[in-house]
Amino acid sequence: MEKHWWQEVVVYQIYPRSFRDSNGDGIGDITGMTEKLEYLEKLGIGAIWLSPVYQSPNDDNGYDISDYEAILAEFGTMAEMEHFIAEADKRHIKVVMDLVVNHTSDEHAWFVEAKKGKDNPYRDYYVWADPAADGGVPNGLGSAFSGPAWEWDAASGQYYLHLFSKKQPDLNWQNQKMRQEIYAMMNSWIAKGIGGFRMDVIDLIGKIPEKGITGNGPQLHEFLQEMHHATFGAHDLLTVGETWGATPEIAKLYSAPERKELSMVFQFEHIGLDQKPDGEKWDLQPMRVAELKRILTKWQTELGQDGWNSLFWNNHDLPRMLSRWGNDQTYRSQSAKMLAILLHMMKGTPYIYQGEEIGMTNTPITTISEARDIETINMYHERLAKGYSEAEILASINAKGRDNARRPMQWDASLNGGFTTDTPWIGMNENYPVINAEAALADPNSIFYTYQKLIRLRKEQPIMVWGEFKLVDTVDEVISYYREYEGERWLIVANFSDDAQLFSVEDEIAEVIIQNYELELTDLKDMTLKPWQAFVVKVTA
Ligand code: GLC
Ligand code: CA
Repeated sequence: MEKHWWQEVVVYQIYPRSFRDSNGDGIGDITGMTEKLEYLEKLGIGAIWLSPVYQSPNDDNGYDISDYEAILAEFGTMAEMEHFIAEADKRHIKVVMDLVVNHTSDEHAWFVEAKKGKDNPYRDYYVWADPAADGGVPNGLGSAFSGPAWEWDAASGQYYLHLFSKKQPDLNWQNQKMRQEIYAMMNSWIAKGIGGFRMDVIDLIGKIPEKGITGNGPQLHEFLQEMHHATFGAHDLLTVGETWGATPEIAKLYSAPERKELSMVFQFEHIGLDQKPDGEKWDLQPMRVAELKRILTKWQTELGQDGWNSLFWNNHDLPRMLSRWGNDQTYRSQSAKMLAILLHMMKGTPYIYQGEEIGMTNTPITTISEARDIETINMYHERLAKGYSEAEILASINAKGRDNARRPMQWDASLNGGFTTDTPWIGMNENYPVINAEAALADPNSIFYTYQKLIRLRKEQPIMVWGEFKLVDTVDEVISYYREYEGERWLIVANFSDDAQLFSVEDEIAEVIIQNYELELTDLKDMTLKPWQAFVVKVTA
C-alpha cells in the first residue's frame, strides 16, 4: 500500500462554537482558533478537523448550511479563515473541512428556489414526494431528530425529505447538475489549500427514499468515485467518511485504494456497546470490555491492505469517553491516559476531540432548559409524550447527549474558563477551575503530556504507524496487543477497569516506552495491574 501523510499524523477536532471566543460575544470564532494554534503546535498534531464554519441559521449548529462558500458572521470572515489556514500551514497543521452535502439548510438559495414550484430548475436538487393515498406522509421514514422525515409543503402540495431536522432538507444526489455544483464548491476549498474533507453522514447520499433505502444505497460508491475524480483525486488529501453502521466489508468499499474513493471512514461499532440491541442510543446498557476488545480487534485485523482505520473515542456528537467508560472521579488522570495509550497504539489515524487532551468530563443537566442540542430537545419532548418519566429521560441525556461534548473548552481558571469574557452560548462545566489547559501545561504529569508524548512517539517510531496488530489473550477487563514491525515488537497492556487485574506473558522487557503510573516495570510474568494501569514496552520476543 502506498504511504500517505494522513496515516502518520494525529488529527485534532475543533468544534468552533465552543473552542475560543476572541471578541467577547460568548461564541467561539476563527480568530480564537488562530490564537490557539500555538497550543495545538505544542501538542504536536498534524491536522485539524474543523466542524462547520459556513454560513448557517444554526438549527443544528452549522450542520445546516445556507452558503458553502461564505463564513458564518459569528465566526468571522473568509479573510480570517484564509489567514487561519495559512497560519496553521506554517505550523505544519493541515485544515480538514467538514463537508455536509447530504443536506443543506432550508435557507440555502437552492432550497429557496426549489420551494417556488414544481417546475423551478432547482426543484429536483431536493427530494419531493406526493402524499400517500390517505393524504399523509409518503412513507414511514423517520428523522434522526425525532418524528417523520417528511415535511409538508402546502404551496406545492408535496412533501420534502429531511433525514435530520426539517430545516435540513436532503439533497437529491441523483441530480447530476447538483453534484457538479458540489464538486465545484469542493474545488474552490481545495484551491484555498485545505488538507481534506470529513464527510458528514456520507453513507446517506445514495438514498432511494421511495423504497425506504437511506444508508448504503446502490449508487453511493459510484457517486464517491465520481467525486474523487472530479475533486480531490489529483491531490493527496485526507478524506474521511462518517459512516454509521459500517462493517469492515463496507469500510473496504470506501477505502480500498484501488477503488479511488476515500482515505478512511469513521466506523461506530464500538460506540454502540452501551446501547440496548433493539433500542435507540438513549436506551442504556452497561458496556462489556470483552465485547469492546472483540470489536476493536475485528477492525484492527479485518481491513488488511484494503483500508485504513480511524481511531477515536470522542467527537462533537458523543458524550465524553472519560466519563462514559473511564472513571472521571477517583481515576480521572489514570483512566484518561489509559484511553489515550490504548487508542494511539492501535493501527490507524488517531483523532482527538477538543478537551480530551486535558481530561474534560461530561456535564449533567437537571432541567431541559439547560440543553442546547436539537436532537436532545426533540427527543425529550417525544419521550415525555410517550410516557417516559422526566428523570429517566434526563438520565439518558446525561449519559449520551451531544451537549456533553459541546461545553466550552476550559483554558484556564479565570471566569468562564478563559473561553469568553461574556456569557457562553452554552453553560460551562463547573470543574473548569481545576480542569483546564493552563493547569495541564503546568503539570509535567498531566494528561496533556501523555497525549503529547504519544504524538511525538508516532513521529519517531514507524512501528506505531505501520506495525501489525496481534491480540494477546487476557482476562476480560484487560486489553493487550502486540505491534510488530521489521523485527521489532511492542507490547501494549491496558487495564480497562476500577479493579486490580492479573496479567502475564513470557516476554522480557527491553525498554519502557510509555506508562500512566510511575512504576518500575521489570517482570511481565504474573503481574497485578493497578486500576486503569496502562503501559507500552518494547520486548525481546
Ligand atoms: C452528523 C454530524 C452531526 C449532525 C448530523 C446532521 O452526524 O456529526 O453533528 O447533526 O450529521 O448533519
Ligand atoms: Ca466570538
